[in-house]
Amino acid sequence: MDANNKRVALVTGATGGLGTAMCKRLHEDGYRVVGNYRNLEKARAWETDLKAQGYDIHLFEGDVADFDSVGLMIAQIEAKVGSIDILINNAGITRDRPFHKMTKQDWDEVIGSNLTSVFNCTRLVIDGMRERNYGRVINISSVNGQRGQFGQANYSAAKAGMHGFTKTLAIEVASKGITVNTISPGYIATDMVMAVREDVRNKIIEQIPVGRLGGTEEIAYLVSFLASEKASFITGSNYAINGGQHVY
Ligand code: CAA
Repeated sequence: MDANNKRVALVTGATGGLGTAMCKRLHEDGYRVVGNYRNLEKARAWETDLKAQGYDIHLFEGDVADFDSVGLMIAQIEAKVGSIDILINNAGITRDRPFHKMTKQDWDEVIGSNLTSVFNCTRLVIDGMRERNYGRVINISSVNGQRGQFGQANYSAAKAGMHGFTKTLAIEVASKGITVNTISPGYIATDMVMAVREDVRNKIIEQIPVGRLGGTEEIAYLVSFLASEKASFITGSNYAINGGQHVY
């Protein structure tokens, strides 16, 4: 039996565009995949839809910005499915506004869901990974954490912070068979990007040398690679996947 068949992968923000593609891909790779959600109605419809497509993926409720809520969720996953070997910190939100109009709430919500969430989820699975001498932590950042973007002071700060976290944790757990990496997607065809005003979005697409938005499955393919056993020498890295929009 392939080692993947025993391993459990948790994808946070599973019902979004990127999360869904990652869940499907990891399921195809042979992992036992679980996802996290906040909206019950959406989650039930998602599970049913994926089941009809042949994917047996269970979702667990949890607010990734809240340490106690994540603790309850992880305990449930461990009891019902098993210890988490692969964590994809994918959940995230935007509250885009020029900084002079940004509220404290816009700031707190984005830092909470996009950065504090990474502490919460990783902190609650890392002890188990250390004990088992194996783990993969993959943090989904953004091109806008690598550069600035008008209207995203909160989001850019959270996404840049994520990679600072990756670099330090990668060093700390390297001797325990655990890798920690960041993926920085550019503009991908998801609801989050489609929510950007059409004229603004069209101008952004003009700046992408490949000439189009990325596909969710293109990010999932990289997640699959980094999650694999064969990627054990890759740690502390930040993979840009943005169609050439930001080269450095
Ligand atoms: N650079 C410089 N100035 C800009 C600008 C830019 N890119 N965009 C707008 N401005 C200027 C405008 O010209 C305007 O100037 P005046 O007041 O002098 O006329 C001023 O800023 C206000 O512009 P808007 O009317 O557009 O401001 P707004 O409040 O209506 O909208 C915004 C602001 C909502 C942030 C909008 O600009 C926007 O949606 N920007 C895109 C943000 C973005 O890329 N979000 C990504 C979401 S997807 C994601 O985050 C996934 C991922 O990881 C990539």
